[in-house]
Amino acid sequence: MTNTLLRGRVLTFHREPARPDDSDAYSYIEDGAVLMRDGLIAASGNYQDVAVDAGDAEIVDHRPYLLMAGFIDPHIHFPQVQIVASWGSQLLDWLNGYTFPAEAEYANAQHARSMAGRFCNLLADHGTTTAVAFCSVHAASTEALFSEAEDRNMRMIAGKTMMDRNAPDAVLDTAQSGYDDSKALIERWHGTGRALCAITPRFAITSTPEQLEMTGALAGEHPECYIQTHLSENHDEIAFTAKLYPDARDYLDVYEGYGLLGPRTLLGHAIHLKDREIGALADSGAHPVFCPTSNLFLGSGLFDDAGLRAKSIQSGIATDIGAGTSYSMLQTLNEGYKILQLQDQKLHTLRAFHWITRGNADVLGLVDKIGTLDAGTEADIVVVNARATPAMDVRMDRAESLSDELFVVQMMGDDRAIAQTYIAGVAQKRDMS
Ligand code: GUN
Ligand code: ZN
Repeated sequence: MTNTLLRGRVLTFHREPARPDDSDAYSYIEDGAVLMRDGLIAASGNYQDVAVDAGDAEIVDHRPYLLMAGFIDPHIHFPQVQIVASWGSQLLDWLNGYTFPAEAEYANAQHARSMAGRFCNLLADHGTTTAVAFCSVHAASTEALFSEAEDRNMRMIAGKTMMDRNAPDAVLDTAQSGYDDSKALIERWHGTGRALCAITPRFAITSTPEQLEMTGALAGEHPECYIQTHLSENHDEIAFTAKLYPDARDYLDVYEGYGLLGPRTLLGHAIHLKDREIGALADSGAHPVFCPTSNLFLGSGLFDDAGLRAKSIQSGIATDIGAGTSYSMLQTLNEGYKILQLQDQKLHTLRAFHWITRGNADVLGLVDKIGTLDAGTEADIVVVNARATPAMDVRMDRAESLSDELFVVQMMGDDRAIAQTYIAGVAQKRDMS
């Protein structure tokens, strides 16, 4: 039995803060503690109270750092680790020029396994303890990622990308093989340890109607699985989709028509939406996923967070590596804040930190397992140092409140601000206690 007591300043959310002064939405404890037992959080709260139940637990003193729930990245591409920061193009040229050639290499199981190790290290180093990942079209890439995550007891949601047209042969499946491979992966991995499966048609452009038909059938057979794809990221993409699916009312209608929309559906980007699509999104309970660094990098456009929220649509926020430029959910919030500023919208820092923890957990329907420091949930925890760099240190001398401190971390922080990451109770950063 492993038993560890973390001491530090504890911050956890109970719901999304409605306003900057909505202090009922979270608990913040100056001298706090989290007791981790066998991969779960046994207790959290005031240090003195939690210590009473700690028995012979090893004590790790993280003061004056903050203890928070691990970050959740609900849209990331595992086989794009080596094309982050590839120069010059917008979405469709970027896919053809950089992405498909890189993903073709994941037919090689050894390459996939070696990259999976580096990918999981990067996630943990940046404080991300759960990811929802697109793998390549090859089942071996999904096997590699799930195996690697299993070895670390890391919660991983992933799927083999399905794509049967408009890409090189090396990254194509067929409607039948896409269905068969995805089904086999679901049967092997869904609910094994901390693994969960996402049915993963890449986007409308790279799937024939036959493939989306079979994808819809698979989703009907496996309502326990997630569905992830892309929606309305780029104007050329939207125009090409309209040509390929001339009978669809709009982009979203393609997915709607094949039964792919529901509360477990994650739609990357969702930038250029029509009113009908917004209404249909709200009715379906599907979740757009805001990918700020990616949207800026590819010049895709500005996500209308306030417009979607006004319709009670609940969005996730994610890195979208490798169009995204940082693994850090802090940097994701930084760029997200600026995208909202450009539209005269606001992202308050308490809502921001809720979003990358409990908010994304809620989008995934997993608040009972991840996203908070509540007793009984999984012990995925980050330790945050707001003075991690000289620039943060000098700025922090003037920080007067928790919100001030968090905003410094949000705007200036990255993996250096993550002093430690615990996954299922086990410290991941090798050079620190
Ligand atoms: N649309 C379809 N595939 C992709 C991808 O890999 N990245 C991004 N950003 N958009 C996509
Ligand atoms: Zn994506």
